[in-house]
Amino acid sequence: MDNSVVDEVINVRMSARAFTQELPSRELIDHILGVASRAPSGVNTQPWKVYVLEGKLRDKLCEKVCQAYAEVSKNPELANEYKETYSYYPEKWFSPYIDRRRENGWSLYGLLGIEKGEKEKMFLQHQRNFRFFDAPVGLFFTIHKDLGTGSILDYGMFLQSIMISAQSHGLATCPQAAWNKFSKIITPIIGAGEDEMLVCGMAIGYADRAQKVNTFKTPRSKAEEFITWVK
Ligand SMILES: Cc1cc2nc3c(=O)[nH]c(=O)nc-3n(C[C@H](O)[C@H](O)[C@H](O)COP(=O)(O)O)c2cc1C
Repeated sequence: MDNSVVDEVINVRMSARAFTQELPSRELIDHILGVASRAPSGVNTQPWKVYVLEGKLRDKLCEKVCQAYAEVSKNPELANEYKETYSYYPEKWFSPYIDRRRENGWSLYGLLGIEKGEKEKMFLQHQRNFRFFDAPVGLFFTIHKDLGTGSILDYGMFLQSIMISAQSHGLATCPQAAWNKFSKIITPIIGAGEDEMLVCGMAIGYADRAQKVNTFKTPRSKAEEFITWVK
């Protein structure tokens, strides 16, 4: 079957983890977010709220979270102070999900030449999350705390629509749940209300094609492994 343009954009999108310093225009970011708002949502609730950061405010926030992450890494007891906004991952991992998670982690580290036990290198790579992998623009997404679980489903559609529209305009993205632990640092800086919960962050900008990390193309199970044609 010939690929459509949409198929092509979906297929080439990948999470970028190194960005150039080229600043995407505000018009382009606003346009992409506007297009993404065409995502469907139950009874058209449109549960999304987006905070866009660039320049000094972005740098200040990154500095604070990088510092907090470094402190937690040195003193794991501090982790209790930074709670995730919601449980994105299962409490107990199990197959086949744990296997995919491991494969994903080790493939990425392998590409970067990081071996098992090289904790400092792993720390530094993970910490890059908190600089939006150097992307000059960072997005934070919040949702009203009292909305239902279904609204998170709607949110996923909005996020993917952002990533697909961005890709079609030559921008790269990386959705980031890593920020969620540091919500209590982030929400006052972005000015989110008490009734809002951080859903995730996202790096957006122009991918640095010279960086090896951006050659990381993740595998997928074959479609026949998850499709059941019910007879
Ligand atoms: C909601 C969400 C949160 C994610 N959080 C992170 C993150 O914090 N850091 C990161 O490097 N990648 C993050 N990812 C990217 C995934 O690791 C990536 O989507 C997955 O490995 C598949 O690779 P691909 O996006 O390149 O196709 C996240 C993805 C999603 C959808």
